[in-house]
Amino acid sequence: MAIERTLVLVKPDGVQRALVGEVVGRFEQRGLHLVGLKLLRMNRELAERHYAEHAGKAFFESLVTFITAAPVVAMVWEGPSAVALVRTMMGATDPANAAPGTIRGETAVSIGANVVHGSDGAERAEQEIALFFQPGELVDWESAQERWLS
Ligand code: RTP
Ligand code: MG
Repeated sequence: MAIERTLVLVKPDGVQRALVGEVVGRFEQRGLHLVGLKLLRMNRELAERHYAEHAGKAFFESLVTFITAAPVVAMVWEGPSAVALVRTMMGATDPANAAPGTIRGETAVSIGANVVHGSDGAERAEQEIALFFQPGELVDWESAQERWLS
């Protein structure tokens, strides 16, 4: 399995509802490595670039308004098949279809306010990570472990 990096956002509803620790804890417990983390308020330009695939759709304006309304927590998680693993742990987009045990299946009821975002492919993950993080803001986990723990 390839080691991948993926972008996760705790969306404004998740931050407001104090679910950051819950989301971080799930990925930590699963065994992924946290290699980047920041709290920020997304502006319209960043939101439009992040959700460019949805431009023109009926829900696009409400999506941009929602994601820019209050701070988000942006994270980069690393591990084997991290992109698909995070998507599985998030659950379906519409919480009505999200399986119990998933993040959305346990914390959300609304398709608009569904707590988390995760990149939906390896190529898109690289693009999204670059939107939120400079290369120097990401940790090289393996070599950092050797330095810190030896
Ligand atoms: P995300 O990008 O936020 O991780 O969510 P996703 O991949 O599961 O879903 P996606 O299709 O990329 O849609 C992005 C966000 O737009 C909102 N949405 N509303 N009303 C609707 O039909 C509709 N469809 C999508 C959701 O908040 C979704 O997370
Ligand atoms: Mg998506």
